[in-house]
Amino acid sequence: MRLRYVPGQYQYLKNCEKAITDPEKRGYKLNKAFGNNNPIHVELGCGKGKFLRENAVKNPDINYFGFEKSVKVAYRCAKSTFENDPPNYYIVYSNGDILREVFDESSISRIYLNFSDPWPKPSHYKRRLTHKSFLEVYKFVLADKGEIHMKTDNNDLFEYSLEQFENDSWEFIMVTRDLHKSAYKEDNIMTEYEERFINEGKKINKLVVRKKNG
Ligand SMILES: C[S@@+](CC[C@H](N)C(=O)[O-])C[C@H]1O[C@@H](n2cnc3c(N)ncnc32)[C@H](O)[C@@H]1O
Repeated sequence: MRLRYVPGQYQYLKNCEKAITDPEKRGYKLNKAFGNNNPIHVELGCGKGKFLRENAVKNPDINYFGFEKSVKVAYRCAKSTFENDPPNYYIVYSNGDILREVFDESSISRIYLNFSDPWPKPSHYKRRLTHKSFLEVYKFVLADKGEIHMKTDNNDLFEYSLEQFENDSWEFIMVTRDLHKSAYKEDNIMTEYEERFINEGKKINKLVVRKKNG
């Protein structure tokens, strides 16, 4: 579904207390934003924020950041925040490729890649969030034993990503090609896209990898 551009979206995000815009201009690294030492989990491409918010409610002792690069989508995400939302999450209107600039080294415990854009043309593979250039960034910002949790309906992107992690010597914690028929389903929090794909009868791939020490 194409989202409409609504005038004033950026200004709305700037004024929204749950949203962070221009994170590179804040004068401090985002890992300091909550003023506590709780673990930090980051979702790249958070969409309208269902997964982000539900995780924040379920895990009050974890700090969440959801990066969203589309102003239209980030606006929709910010519009669906509520006064009684938990304090432990922020929407970040920004491209996730700036993680290295806005977080201290080893400051993130987990990165979520949920239904990332598949970029099917080989000439666009470098834009995939599991391209080796992104893996370098993740290794910088992830703490020792930090994890990446990835879900996608796109089999081609999934196989590509498995290969990228394998070639880059990440430790595999779990892999399933049918999450909703697996034992991992129990703790699963669905994203907006996931709900749609499940209703269409599609299978969901999931992997968890861990950064190796050293
Ligand atoms: C297919 S949607 C999935 C949204 C959500 N994760 C879900 O599963 O419902 C992908 C979203 O990621 C955003 N996105 C893609 N690349 C991004 C990047 N490099 N940084 C931040 N957001 C990104 C897109 O704007 C889009 O809203």
